[in-house]
Amino acid sequence: MSALRPLAFSALLRRLELELAGGGPVFGLARKDWHVPRPEVDLSHGLGQRRAANPIGPAAGPHTQLAQNMVQGWLAGARVFELKTIQVRDQLSIPRPCIHAPHYALNVEWSQELSLAESVREYQKTAWLLEILRRSRAGGGLPPRANLDFLLDLSVGYSLEGLRSTAMRGALQALRQPEAGFESLRDTLDAQQRRWAGDPPAGPVAECVTLSTFHGCPPEEIGAMAGCLLEDGWHVIIKLNPTLLGLERVRHILHERLGYHHLQPDAEAFARDLSLHGAVDLLGELHGKALGLGRSLGVKFTNTLVLHRDAALFPEDAGPHMYLSGAPLHPLALATAAEVVERLPQALPLSFSAGVDRHNAAGLLRCGLAPLTLCTDLLRRGGQARMAGLLRAIEDRVASSACATLAEFQGNTAGSAAEAWKERAHRLRQAADIAASDESHAAVQVMRPPRKLTRVLKRLDCINCDICQPVCPNGALFTWVSPTAEARGVRQIGVLADACNACSNCETWCPELGAPWRVKERWHQSAESLLASPEDLDGSCFHQDGLLLRFGRQLFRYRPADMLQEDVFEVVVPDGAALASRPVADAHRAQHLERARMLWKALGSGGDHPVSTLWGGR
Ligand SMILES: Cc1cc2nc3c(=O)[nH]c(=O)nc-3n(C[C@H](O)[C@H](O)[C@H](O)COP(=O)(O)O)c2cc1C
Ligand code: SF4
Ligand code: SF4
Repeated sequence: MSALRPLAFSALLRRLELELAGGGPVFGLARKDWHVPRPEVDLSHGLGQRRAANPIGPAAGPHTQLAQNMVQGWLAGARVFELKTIQVRDQLSIPRPCIHAPHYALNVEWSQELSLAESVREYQKTAWLLEILRRSRAGGGLPPRANLDFLLDLSVGYSLEGLRSTAMRGALQALRQPEAGFESLRDTLDAQQRRWAGDPPAGPVAECVTLSTFHGCPPEEIGAMAGCLLEDGWHVIIKLNPTLLGLERVRHILHERLGYHHLQPDAEAFARDLSLHGAVDLLGELHGKALGLGRSLGVKFTNTLVLHRDAALFPEDAGPHMYLSGAPLHPLALATAAEVVERLPQALPLSFSAGVDRHNAAGLLRCGLAPLTLCTDLLRRGGQARMAGLLRAIEDRVASSACATLAEFQGNTAGSAAEAWKERAHRLRQAADIAASDESHAAVQVMRPPRKLTRVLKRLDCINCDICQPVCPNGALFTWVSPTAEARGVRQIGVLADACNACSNCETWCPELGAPWRVKERWHQSAESLLASPEDLDGSCFHQDGLLLRFGRQLFRYRPADMLQEDVFEVVVPDGAALASRPVADAHRAQHLERARMLWKALGSGGDHPVSTLWGGR
């Protein structure tokens, strides 16, 4: 299985520094896709005690697991990041493929893939990298007056015992008091990088925790888990599930109103999950507790909907379920929000995550929902750059409503707090009713998969449409330029193998037949990573003064010619910690050697190959 391996902080910093200075794309995001805020519109929004410059960002999921993804998101305008859920069980084996998102999304990727320690470090790296971007205004690429503040929202699950475990307590503590973590990151930098990176951000990496009440989280433990977090000083958001609506309502909206007859909700999950009345009582109790402790309590609508797994899409080891998000989830989540808010006597901050896109975001904010976080929309063509378009749409709506701030735009017409809350419930109910009868959420409109050609994808040949790179949620794809005589100057796709977890989203969106992550040239950050990767995948990495390569299940060492000797190109096998050369007859030797030379040449071509900038070239 392809496993994620975080990229070293020093490598990420080097790439950030060189690409910010270079004037081209940064971590794959072209400058035309960066969000440049409109200074006359103040979209800032508070969460707990922090404020972010706007209420938009990626939802807990594949876009918020690795630091490089969040750099991309920040450049596209994201300022609120719901981090990938962490939990005590951090050695899960996630089945592949794990995402199928040709229109709405289905996934079986239900928890963090990194170890707890790696996740903590990744979130510390993220905070520091985003702070560099904020302070430097993306290397001077964003206007001086723009508010660029961001915040990270931690997501945790899925049991009281897990939350109270030493490992989880340690992880939360390392994010509340990250000084030692920042210090150990600083230790990995050389003097020049230390100067360039400046000081790490002051204070906690995050102050707010979103509690994921999904994936078998026992409903009777939610109150104690939230209580525990509040007592430990966190601001807390309870992320609810669409199962609160009840099986009959969900079936009615999903099947009768929207026409998704092929999607089958799991009745047992509804029976197991929190009830609507239970949720309302729980929120009331926790609100009182939060007030007493001087913390805030919010509620988020919603997590994904649990369905019976489609065996044609996901392998058996995925278990009995798959999870639905995107357009069909949107009306369900709005209906859930309306049901809860109508029953809640006290006003609570409401956030939202279900099929948010550029067409509905401003309307959702008007209903009093903020922050809005997205996942499925970012898996579509354009990837995280879609956030920049969404932010422009919100800014235009706010400005054309003659409002200067988000708070004004969300303002209620009613006078007292109680009336304002009623008004909010009324708006949510209206929005939910409209969404359930809106064609744009219906199966006939939504289910239009990306177009496929009959052309078969090849390693160094494709139509170069540039669709795959942005749809990769892990920032694992990049472009490079071929130096070979027959294809000189042709842009190629490459894979940062350590950032690719074989989720398959690039395959879904590639117009050609084949999987870019498997077919295109793959680069590893170390020999250890190359040797640990599946044997049927080709790949390369820097090794000693040359390259280590695996072509067709065979390992080669390549050392380019120097003053004293010719090119060295030999078959090697792992021999303890070293590599021993083996004289083996290889029918494809000439071809393999040519490929090794080409890769070496590409790395040296001007230093702007992302692999060179990450790992320093020769
Ligand atoms: C591939 C994938 C992975 C996700 N992982 C998590 C997770 O780890 N924790 C969580 O609370 N929600 C997770 N979600 C749910 C999202 O955070 C979000 O609430 C949901 O997808 C609805 O938003 P959307 O319609 O914009 O995708 C995931 C969703 C997807 C599609
Ligand atoms: S390269 Fe493709 S398979 Fe790998 S993480 Fe990116 S989208 Fe998923
Ligand atoms: S690999 Fe596929 S999606 Fe990527 S550029 Fe080539 S044809 Fe386009």
